[in-house]
Amino acid sequence: MKIWIAGAAGQLGCALNDMAKQYQPDAEIINTDIEEVDVTNLNQVIDFAKEKRPDVIFDCAAVTNVGTCEESPEYAYKVNAIGARNLAIAASKVQARILLLSTDDVFNGIRQVPYHEFDETDPMTVYGRSKLAGENYVKEFAHDHFIIRSNWVFGRGSDANFVNQILKAIETKTELYISDDQYGSPTSANALAAFMLKLINTEEYGTYHVTCSGVCNRYEFAKEIVRISEKDVRVIPVPTRKAEYCSARPTFTVLDNFLITVLGIHKMPTWIDALEEYMEQEYKR
Ligand SMILES: NC(=O)c1ccc[n+]([C@@H]2O[C@H](COP(=O)([O-])OP(=O)(O)OC[C@H]3O[C@@H](n4cnc5c(N)ncnc54)[C@H](OP(=O)(O)O)[C@@H]3O)[C@@H](O)[C@H]2O)c1
Repeated sequence: MKIWIAGAAGQLGCALNDMAKQYQPDAEIINTDIEEVDVTNLNQVIDFAKEKRPDVIFDCAAVTNVGTCEESPEYAYKVNAIGARNLAIAASKVQARILLLSTDDVFNGIRQVPYHEFDETDPMTVYGRSKLAGENYVKEFAHDHFIIRSNWVFGRGSDANFVNQILKAIETKTELYISDDQYGSPTSANALAAFMLKLINTEEYGTYHVTCSGVCNRYEFAKEIVRISEKDVRVIPVPTRKAEYCSARPTFTVLDNFLITVLGIHKMPTWIDALEEYMEQEYKR
């Protein structure tokens, strides 16, 4: 199998490369990031797909910084929506399957109940709206598609994720002020990538919610990172407006892994197990 990973230098791109050794050992992996193939350039995307003829395209290319998206909506829509459209058009031209990564931000996060795949979307941010536009383009232009929405992803390949920010902070700080009013399910990029690499062997097309199991707030998440790191750091719960290391977001963006559970396709690890494994591999000294 030939797999093209667009946006390969990011967290999910790195995790897919790491996990492919185990889950797709015979696959040929073609990695591109913006320098090799700019997903916003339709002709470049189509030419590359025609030259390489991948069987599967992973769309991991995105503008993921919520603040950047608010400041530059044109840039956000160009990459997150048009980029997804271009890869979907290319996938359909070369009869490849496409898998798009998406986000809990397609929901408004107001209600205090986890969202499943059949709940109404209602994004409140430019990031969420641009990702939803990308989802819709993929549904419109690529018949054989998978859309995976996830939440609070951590992995190597990004300094901006919450785990890596906290690990950096506790090298020098002894107190952290962390939001206790934002809830989610921390999800390891490796666990997510393992599922994605399994899913592409199937024809179970459609939209899935995939996060590690369990729910916590940012304060509880940070406390767990500090505990595993064995550092002597005090974590203090505060409301988001007074907190460090997170932006203003909807308060409850928990996804229910409804379909993978109903279909019996896969079971994700708990977020605490996944966090321990990540820190063991990457950071614990
Ligand atoms: N991180 C999360 O918590 C999370 C949660 C749910 C869903 N997701 C989704 O998962 C996907 C991957 O996320 P991630 O955490 O791996 O993001 P990431 O680490 O920010 O990686 C995205 C990659 O895409 C590249 N890129 C940006 N513009 C591009 C373009 N025009 N052409 C080609 N590549 C381009 C980025 O390059 P630069 O860094 O140079 O811009 C970066 O290497 C995204 O679709 C995101 O929406 C992420």
